[in-house]
Amino acid sequence: MRNTSSIYKRMYSPKLIELFKNPKNVGEMPDADVKVTEGSLACGDMITIFMKVDEKTKRIKDIKFLSYGCAANIATTSMMTEMVKGLTLEEAKKITFKQIADALGGLPPVKMHCAVLSVDGLRSAIRKYEEEHGLVEVPELDESFVRSRLRHIINPKIGRDIISTGIVDEIKVYDGNVEIDLNISEDDEFKNYIVGEIRERLENLPNIKELKINFKE
Ligand code: FES
Repeated sequence: MRNTSSIYKRMYSPKLIELFKNPKNVGEMPDADVKVTEGSLACGDMITIFMKVDEKTKRIKDIKFLSYGCAANIATTSMMTEMVKGLTLEEAKKITFKQIADALGGLPPVKMHCAVLSVDGLRSAIRKYEEEHGLVEVPELDESFVRSRLRHIINPKIGRDIISTGIVDEIKVYDGNVEIDLNISEDDEFKNYIVGEIRERLENLPNIKELKINFKE
């Protein structure tokens, strides 16, 4: 783990520093019911949330995370996972970034978006679970629906989403099939990451029959 500098001590509460140094619920979960990666439009950092849900009670049985963000993001996401474990999906949806910041003894204003990212990740994971398990209606499948889902994927080269950074060239939707033309070649260093994220976001949705991804020549 990184050293706790005096700058951290001035910026952060002792509780936040403790959770940053010893975060709870960090790691992958190979048998997760849902996995989602969410990026912050404020800073380009990312978190991945893994969640297991009790099918009958709809309670969060287990939740883990990986953070590609700052100290505040590691601490806020760790706190979020502790707060929602055992809650029903409906209860977990009501958790706010403010509650997480308060539970950590406060956050500096410039770091509030780190708590927002942890809540966005949680809500994305819940929505994905609900959509894939038929608990909520998935919006009508059209180009703007696909575009809205792809906006959550961060282009690792630039730190902004793959739509606004021009990675997605064209989206075609026909008879429940989705075809996405990407502006990257087959041998792009981030191809596997970007394709994996697109598949994660779209492949299991009940309104999509087939997903095809094409690359630049
Ligand atoms: Fe990006 Fe904290 S600065 S998550």
